[in-house]
Amino acid sequence: MDIKDHIRQIPDFPKPGINFYDISTLLAHPDAWQVSMGRLAKKVAAWQPDVLAGIESRGFLVAAPLALKLGMGFVMVRKPNKLPGDVKSHTYDLEYGSDTVEIQADAVQPGQRVVICDDLLATGGTALAAINLFREAGAEVVGVASIIELSFLEGRKRLDVPFDALITYDE
Ligand code: PRP
Ligand code: MG
Repeated sequence: MDIKDHIRQIPDFPKPGINFYDISTLLAHPDAWQVSMGRLAKKVAAWQPDVLAGIESRGFLVAAPLALKLGMGFVMVRKPNKLPGDVKSHTYDLEYGSDTVEIQADAVQPGQRVVICDDLLATGGTALAAINLFREAGAEVVGVASIIELSFLEGRKRLDVPFDALITYDE
């Protein structure tokens, strides 16, 4: 099965000139969804994580089913001010302004092996922020996995951990 057959491309979203790679059509297709999570689970398992992390919001749709499949815990990386109790934050620069990602303070234990999951790697800025956040929490990030990689944006070059994706678009 070619997973690309189940990804919908929507031109000019969210801005003119941007091509949006939409996983909704993949999620809605029972076989394609099953096959893609099965393939990604194999890649992730090879890194021998203790816990899987998903980046809000579409990363939750990847990390949660993978964690369930692999019999692991699942941790939410959320946008700011969404998580209750003690949190750890990491703020990073954007082209204009900055952004923040958060986890609950007890989400990972020092030395735990974490794999970060998302639907798509573009510039890599979001994944890099999550890597830094888990490192600051004392965890070891052993990989980043996504369904889609936009290789022309060279996001993987910014990551100093192994990265793997199910499918790649080079333009
Ligand atoms: C998208 C996508 C990744 C991120 C990739 O999330 O789901 O998380 O951008 O971009 P980057 O590699 O350049 O950082 P978005 O911010 O659109 O939010 P969403 O997942 O809540 O839809
Ligand atoms: Mg996202």
